[in-house]
Amino acid sequence: NEGSLWGGRFASGPADVMAALSKSTHFDWKLAPYDIAGSRAHARVLHRAGLLTEPELAGMLSALDRLADDVHSGAFAPVESDEDVHGALERGLLERAGEDLGGKLRAGRSRNDQIATMVRMYLRGQVRLISAGVLDVVDALIAQAQAHPGTPMPGRTHLQHAQPVLLAHHLLAHAWPLLRDVDRLGDLDRRLARSPYGAGALAGSSLGLDPAQVAAELGFDGPTENSIDGTASRDLVAEFTWVTAMIGVDLSRISEEVILWATKEFGFVTLDDAYSTGSSIMPQKKNPDIAELARGKAGRLIGDHTGLLATLKALPLAYNRDLQEDKEPAFDAVDTLEMLLPAVSGMIATLRFHPERLAELAPQGFSLATDVAEWLVRQGVPFRVAHEVAGECVRACEEHDPAKELHELTDEELTAIHPELTPAVRDVLSVDGSLASRDAVGGTAPVRVAEQLQAAAQRSAER
Ligand code: ARG
Repeated sequence: NEGSLWGGRFASGPADVMAALSKSTHFDWKLAPYDIAGSRAHARVLHRAGLLTEPELAGMLSALDRLADDVHSGAFAPVESDEDVHGALERGLLERAGEDLGGKLRAGRSRNDQIATMVRMYLRGQVRLISAGVLDVVDALIAQAQAHPGTPMPGRTHLQHAQPVLLAHHLLAHAWPLLRDVDRLGDLDRRLARSPYGAGALAGSSLGLDPAQVAAELGFDGPTENSIDGTASRDLVAEFTWVTAMIGVDLSRISEEVILWATKEFGFVTLDDAYSTGSSIMPQKKNPDIAELARGKAGRLIGDHTGLLATLKALPLAYNRDLQEDKEPAFDAVDTLEMLLPAVSGMIATLRFHPERLAELAPQGFSLATDVAEWLVRQGVPFRVAHEVAGECVRACEEHDPAKELHELTDEELTAIHPELTPAVRDVLSVDGSLASRDAVGGTAPVRVAEQLQAAAQRSAER
C-alpha cells in the first residue's frame, strides 16, 4: 500500500471499485491552489510551534512554491492512483521536498479541516465573481430604465391588465431582488470568513498550532469557534446554493417576461440578433433561447440546492464521507451562473423596446377603473360606492360591441351611472394622469421613479 495516506494498518490497497467510488480529483482539483495556500500557512505554524526548523521551513515553502507553479502550468496533475486533491498534492510535495521533509507537513491537520477550509476559500472568491455578474444584470436593467424614463406600459396582476405603470418602474422591480441577492452574498461572506483549519479530523490539534494564525494568513477574520462544527457543517455551502438558486429564480422571472414580450401578441420588444436564435426549418423564426435557458437553468440551480440539503439531512456529527458530495452541486451552481449571467445581461442590454406599442396597451383592459374610483373618493364618495360605480362604468363599456374604453363613455352615459361622475373625471382617464397621481414613495409617478432610478444606480455602484 505504498504511497497511500493511511498505509500503516492496511495489508492491501483498495479494490478498484473502492478507489473508483472514492475518487474526487476530477472535481476537487480546482481547489488545489487553495490547498497549497493552506499548506504554506500550516508550514508556518508548524515552524512557530517548533516542529520545523528555519531551514526546514524554507525548504518546505520553496517546494510548495515549485508545486504551485507546476500545478498552475499543468506540469503537475493528479494521476490514476490519487484519491483526492489532498493526496495528489501530498505526492507532489514529497516528490519536490523529499519524503523526510515533505512527510512533516501532515502533522496536526486532516483532510477534514483542509477540505472544509478550501471550500470556504473557494466560495468566498465565487461570491465576489457572482456578485459582479448579478450587478451587470442590474446595470443593464437600470440602463434600459434610464433609456425609457417616460414610457408607460400595462401593469398586470394575474397576468391581466391592472393599472398603467412606467416601463422604468417595472424594470426596476426586477433590479431590486437582484440587489438583495448581492446583499445576501455579502452577508454570507461574513459567515464564510471563519477558518476551520487546525480543527484536525474533528477535535483540534495537540501540537500547539495556532488556528488564528492560519486563519489570518488565509484571509479569514478568524478561526471557527468549534472544531467539530468547523469540519462537520456544510450549512454555508447550502446557504450558497440557496442564494444561487434564488438568483436563478429571479433571472427566470425576468426571462419569462422577455419570452412573453417578444411574442407577436405582446410585441413589446425585439431581441437583438446576437442574443437570439433562428430555426432550422422555419426561416422567419427568432427565438428567445437565452431567456428560455435561464428559465430552465433555474430548475437546475434549485436541484443543486435541494440535492445538497438531502445529502446533509440527518448526518451525525462529525465528518462523514457523505460530505464529499457538497462540492459538485456548489461547483455546478457556479459554472451555471458564470455562463448564464453574462448572457442574460447582454440580452437585457440589447432589448429593443417598442414604446408606442407599450403606450397603446397601457390604458386598455379598463386599467384606469381604479383611477375613476379614487377620483370619486376625492369628491367625497365612500370607496365602497366608488368601486361599485367604476365597475358599472366598465360594464357600460362592455355593453358596446366592440367594447368602448372608459374615456370613450359620453358625458350622458357617465352621469347616468352616478350624478357625481361629471366630465371632470376625464382628468384621470388618461395614462399620464393616472401615473402622475401615484406619487407616494415607491409609486409609479415619474418623479418617484426618477428618484428610485437614482437610488438603484447608487446601490449598484456601492457594491
Ligand atoms: N475528499 C474528502 C471530501 O471532499 C475529504 C477527505 C476526507 N476523507 C476522509 N476519509 N476523511 O470531503
